[in-house]
Amino acid sequence: MEMIENLKKEMEHKLKEVKSLEALNILKAEYLGKKGSISELTKNMKDLSIEEKKTFGKSVNELKSAITLQIDELRENLEREALEEKMQREKIDVTLPGTDFKIGTLHPLERIRTEIEEIFISMGYDVVEGPEVETDLYNFEKLNLPKNHPARDAQDSFYIEDEKMLLRTHTSPVQARTMDGNKEKGALRIICPGKTYRRDDDDATHSHQFSQIEGLVIDENLSLADLKGTLEIVARRLFGEDKSLRFRPSFFPFTEPSFEVDVSCFKCGGKGCPICKGTGWIEILGSGVVHPNVLRNCGYDPEKYTGFAFGIGQERVAMLKYGITDIRSFYTNDMRFLEDMDRMEGGE
Ligand code: PHE
Repeated sequence: MEMIENLKKEMEHKLKEVKSLEALNILKAEYLGKKGSISELTKNMKDLSIEEKKTFGKSVNELKSAITLQIDELRENLEREALEEKMQREKIDVTLPGTDFKIGTLHPLERIRTEIEEIFISMGYDVVEGPEVETDLYNFEKLNLPKNHPARDAQDSFYIEDEKMLLRTHTSPVQARTMDGNKEKGALRIICPGKTYRRDDDDATHSHQFSQIEGLVIDENLSLADLKGTLEIVARRLFGEDKSLRFRPSFFPFTEPSFEVDVSCFKCGGKGCPICKGTGWIEILGSGVVHPNVLRNCGYDPEKYTGFAFGIGQERVAMLKYGITDIRSFYTNDMRFLEDMDRMEGGE
């Protein structure tokens, strides 16, 4: 009986020291486990008389329930404390400023591309893409620019393989590829957006990488009126319904006749201002009637089919539309530039 009493005291003393659930579990095993102190205690029973066994057994059982009770109580306390501590640690201060999630925005070139694509898709055009690493054949020769043609100088190129492979200098090769690949050799109505490369020294208005959207329409009985009408619709949708276009004769080897197209200045409305350099007009694209040689090179019969083509510089349109003054901003990926763009689109 003394042993029981001692064990009880010892355990109560130890319980006071317990500060964690782990320690409590160890203590529980120590007293109540299969090989714990209480089981050890019952081993002594075999030497007792029946009467003694009864009282001893009863006391052991009482000790067992007392210990179990105390351990359970302590466990409850420790668990509550742990929960309170966790709640304290994970407390949410609803008055704190919220986390600022950075939501990506569309790059201005991407916006312009989508806008232009949508205009053409609404007029029944297909969007076609092609390789950025091009053959000399498609980038130049099929487009009526044979080797040593002086106009090649205007499109100073990055060659990858001598006289064979280069980074495309415009997206016109996609047009040549589409004409070539069209087995029926029938009517076509496509636009080709994409990246293009020229050996240029980068400055505020020049970049060795830029993007174009070129268009090509091929059909029977097409006339210049179709080209003019199409471009007028596009320019008005892009820059505003009150705008007018001006066609200036120009030269491209792949079109004849060729035109550079100006839009009436959207800043001053044509009166003359620094944006249009006092002329009232801003150049936006090159265009023309597809040269018979190009049609022939791509398997079309120039006697039957005519076509018109145009090339729009995406950077130029974006710069004019959003008032961007440095072409390099499109490629340096300064977050502030992109955020500014977003604000402008939001109408602030
Ligand atoms: N490919 C020409 C360029 O990059 C633009 C253009 C396209 C001109 C189609 C006329 C017709 O300069």
